Amino acid sequence: MALEIWTEKYRPKTLDQVRGQDAVSSRLKAFVKSKNMPHLLFAGPAGVGKTSAAVALAKDLFGDNWSTAVLELNASDERGIDVVRNKIKDFARSRAIQDVPFKIIYLDEADSLTKDAQHALRRTMEDYAQSTRFILSCNYSSKIIPPIQSRCAIFRFKPLPKDIMIKILTEVSEREGLMMTAGALSFLYEASEGDCRKAENLLQACSAIAQEIDTKIVEQVVSFAEPKEVASVIEKALAGKFLDAKERLFDVMIKHGLSGMDVIAQIQKQIWNIDSLDEKIRLELIKICGDYEFRLVEGSNEFIQLEAMIAQFAQFAKGSWKLLPDISLLHRRKEEKDDDRSD
Ligand SMILES: Nc1ncnc2c1ncn2[C@@H]1O[C@H](COP(=O)(O)OP(=O)(O)OP(=O)(O)O)[C@@H](O)[C@H]1O
Ligand SMILES: [Mg+2]
Repeated sequence: MALEIWTEKYRPKTLDQVRGQDAVSSRLKAFVKSKNMPHLLFAGPAGVGKTSAAVALAKDLFGDNWSTAVLELNASDERGIDVVRNKIKDFARSRAIQDVPFKIIYLDEADSLTKDAQHALRRTMEDYAQSTRFILSCNYSSKIIPPIQSRCAIFRFKPLPKDIMIKILTEVSEREGLMMTAGALSFLYEASEGDCRKAENLLQACSAIAQEIDTKIVEQVVSFAEPKEVASVIEKALAGKFLDAKERLFDVMIKHGLSGMDVIAQIQKQIWNIDSLDEKIRLELIKICGDYEFRLVEGSNEFIQLEAMIAQFAQFAKGSWKLLPDISLLHRRKEEKDDDRSD
């Protein structure tokens, strides 16, 4: 039996099945009702339903023959922008079908186009406006030139929230006959960071290991430290137990095969999850993470840098953690820095 990719198997087929993007779907449904739409600009992170919404919109608009009315292209096509432009022209010139008087061109990664290419695209959009509607998809709408932005209705897609992602994953696992623990589901969500494609891919990878999936299996697949292990490194450091924290950190790194960058990313994320942290301290720690991430990018030895980072956490804690929630020290430090800057 051919291996089916779950992200395709479970791709939403109608706008109703596109979850967690309610503001987007309700506006798109209005276009279906009126059988008309302007050019659209879909902006948002990976794997949150941009392509799915475009396909679902086309299906809802055109019915079974939708695929003849839609051209899907990737703007970063390695054969070059001319190939893309020619395909757009050929398709735009062909006749529209059925009772909907236009066709749709879905252009993925539109923000990868240079400014010049975007200006050319803008002209093409105008030339064929009668017969064609564009849906441009991008991660950042700010990378699209203003003349295109102003010709499009902009739709912002968000990372999927935890409850919705868990619902989707639960449904997929039920249909695939998997048993998931609650911990495994929430771990999958965390690892995916709201990217549904990533979550479904991870789930499929887990299913290749076992039918009963717990956090250990997810961890194996994600090969990322468990959040609680990383949290304990931070807590030890903030309690001033530098040596314990350091040992724990290197254990976690070796056990899970993490790079220094992975560790900093995890620590940074966990800082937001430790509820008991005072807000000012949280911000200081985030800044420290930023500094050390930069040093790693610059190519410093990761063990030395991580050790230094933990040392700084511990030292920082000596002055402030025990004083919680007294943050006068932080204020002083900040004022000193401000003074330095105004010099
Ligand atoms: N909002 C959603 N509701 C239900 N399933 C979703 C949603 N978003 C993503 N998925 C699942 O993830 C898969 C990938 O989503 P999709 O291709 O729509 O992402 P995208 O936003 O276009 O990402 P990219 O920017 O990487 O192209 C879908 O096939 C579907 O299985
Ligand atoms: Mg896409």
